Amino acid sequence: MEYFIGLMSGTSMDGIDAAVCAFDDSLPEPRFQGVQAHAAGHYPAPLRERLLTLQRTVPQLSLRELAELDRDVARAFADAAGAALAAAGLPPGAIRAVGSHGQTVFHDPAGTCGSIQLGNPSLVAQRLGITTVADFRRADVAAGGQGAPLVPAFHHALFARADRPRVALNLGGIANITLLPGADASDVSGFDTGPANGLMDEWAERQLGRAYDEDGRFAASGRLHPELLEALLGDPYFAAPPPKSTGRGDFHLDWLRHRYPGLDGLAPADVQRTLCELTARTVADAIRRHGPRTQEVLACGGGTRNPLLMERLRALLAPMALGTTAGAGLDPQHVEAAAFAWLAMRTMRGLPGNLPAVTGAERPVILGGIYRA
Ligand SMILES: Nc1ncnc2c1ncn2[C@@H]1O[C@H](COP(=O)(O)OP(=O)(O)O)[C@@H](O)[C@H]1O
Ligand SMILES: [Mg+2]
Repeated sequence: MEYFIGLMSGTSMDGIDAAVCAFDDSLPEPRFQGVQAHAAGHYPAPLRERLLTLQRTVPQLSLRELAELDRDVARAFADAAGAALAAAGLPPGAIRAVGSHGQTVFHDPAGTCGSIQLGNPSLVAQRLGITTVADFRRADVAAGGQGAPLVPAFHHALFARADRPRVALNLGGIANITLLPGADASDVSGFDTGPANGLMDEWAERQLGRAYDEDGRFAASGRLHPELLEALLGDPYFAAPPPKSTGRGDFHLDWLRHRYPGLDGLAPADVQRTLCELTARTVADAIRRHGPRTQEVLACGGGTRNPLLMERLRALLAPMALGTTAGAGLDPQHVEAAAFAWLAMRTMRGLPGNLPAVTGAERPVILGGIYRA
């Protein structure tokens, strides 16, 4: 058995997920054996605020500030990994490598500039005393891809079934789907469907002063506003064909106001309810359109903890079955971090990590840079 730690923080900025993962000795491709321990790391409040501001507005920051963020994110990532290590009861020497996604601060899906993640990997490696793999997206971009999404390859390795068309659905700050029509990797596709928690969080924070709408209660107290929903669904992103990827820079409060100038005259709870519906509708529409034969949708990410969102998804997806990845043996909150442990394992073994059909790259490539402890 070999152990890797995966570190991930998505666009929700709710914190860092750290997962200690076990892999068997199968060759050439070791198989994922499960999460041994998980820890949820936190960004100190001022750091979180600075990172959120970077996502929501056109970044205005000095190179010194950029370097500081790179350092501070690395410290928070290393702390999260340390906590997971302690929870697993393992010494650093037991871990082959850390796979650190870092925090995305820039993503240019349509162009060739790729994507920038902060969290100085050398600092992560040296604070932990563990070799760290990072900068996973750049090799795919260099090979002509969008550098995203990368997690579908892991979804395929874990969840694909020859006789059962499935979809893996991640409800993070942004929602993304992986279509798994069968066992063959070349049939996998996946893309970001649009906003999920990120937009709901922004509205909840503004109206309630809380980081998110706990259990979807605020949304459940409001009524769906059909006109607002139609205005939002009119954004060309939703009808655009894949490959496509997006970020919170595309879906934020100013976007809401731009799509529906009368926004501030609506009851705040009705807006929350409608944003929840927007996520459910755009996800369900994407699955129906691109995976009409899907039998089962396996959801993961923080959105699975929002009962209203899950209820609306279930209704819109029927007769497809909706469950969470827990039904397939992986806690919904561990999936993304585990994916970066898996990707680090592949890098250390010299195995490619991207799926060209998903990212648009010209070929499979070995992802990431290796930073020695
Ligand atoms: N009890 C809950 N009720 C509603 N939403 C929740 C709940 N718990 C978590 N969430 C949502 O999940 C988000 C975090 O999801 P996560 O999968 O970690 O996203 P990311 O990958 O973008 O970091 C939170 O910001 C929040 O919106
Ligand atoms: Mg998160």
